[in-house]
Amino acid sequence: MFAVIGGSGMAQLSCLEISHRQIIRTPYGEPSGPFTFGKVNNHEIVFLARHGHGHTIPPHLINYRANIWALKTLKPKHVIAVAAVGGIHDDLVPGSLIIPDQIIDYTHSRDFTFFDSRDEPVTHIDFTRPYSPETRALILKAANRAGEAVIDGGVYAATQGPRLETAAEINRLAHDGADMVGMTGMPEAALAREQALNYAALAVVANHAAGRGTNTDVISLKEIFTILDETMAHVRNILEHLVNCYGD
Ligand code: HPA
Repeated sequence: MFAVIGGSGMAQLSCLEISHRQIIRTPYGEPSGPFTFGKVNNHEIVFLARHGHGHTIPPHLINYRANIWALKTLKPKHVIAVAAVGGIHDDLVPGSLIIPDQIIDYTHSRDFTFFDSRDEPVTHIDFTRPYSPETRALILKAANRAGEAVIDGGVYAATQGPRLETAAEINRLAHDGADMVGMTGMPEAALAREQALNYAALAVVANHAAGRGTNTDVISLKEIFTILDETMAHVRNILEHLVNCYGD
C-alpha cells in the first residue's frame, strides 16, 4: 500500500474512492487528523492531510512524530510526501514539480527524533541520502508514464515558518546550496528514516522565493494558492499512475 501525506493545497485526494477513515492514537499524541483509506483504480492507498482536514495546523505545530509513528503502524510500502515550496533556483518556476534528493534543516524547537530517551542505547541513523532512492525512482517513473514534467533532484531547505523568508535569508540559503524552500520537510524526513519508512517528497513550486523572479518586493499569498490549485491536478495524475503501475 502507498501512503500519501498531502501538504498545502492538498487537504484531500480527490481521485480517492474512500472506504473508511481511521483515528490512530500514538504515544506521541494526536496525528494531524484521521487517516483516510481508499482505492484509486482498485489499488489501496492511505492519505493524511499534514495540516489537518481544514488546513488549520501551521508547520511548526504539526505533530510530526505522531504522524510518522501512526503511518509506520500501517506498514506502507512507500510514503509520498507532497509539499509546497518556494523556488530558489532559476529553473524552479511556479507550477514546476521536483523530486528533491537532499535537504538542509534550518528548523528549531520541533520534536525531531524518536530517540530522545536517557534510558535506551544511543541510536544514530544514517541520513546521507535523506530520501529513499527507491521511492524517488518510482515517483520519477510514474511521472514519466503520466507525461508530467518533473525535475529530478534538488536541495530542499526546511525553514521554521510560519512566516515566509526575507530576501537576505533566501540569498543565504542559495549560498548554502538550496534550490527550494519549504517549512515541513523536517523533521518529517528524518523521523521517517528513524522508522525505516521508504519516504520521498514530491515538491510543488508555489512561488518564487522571496527576492527571486518576480517576487522582488512582496509574495502574494493569493497567487500561491492559485498556483497550488492549478498544479495539484498534475500531482494527482502522477499519484494515479504511481498506484496504477506500482500499487498492490
Ligand atoms: N518559503 C517557505 N515555504 C514555502 C514557500 C516559501 O517561499 N512557498 C511555499 N512554501
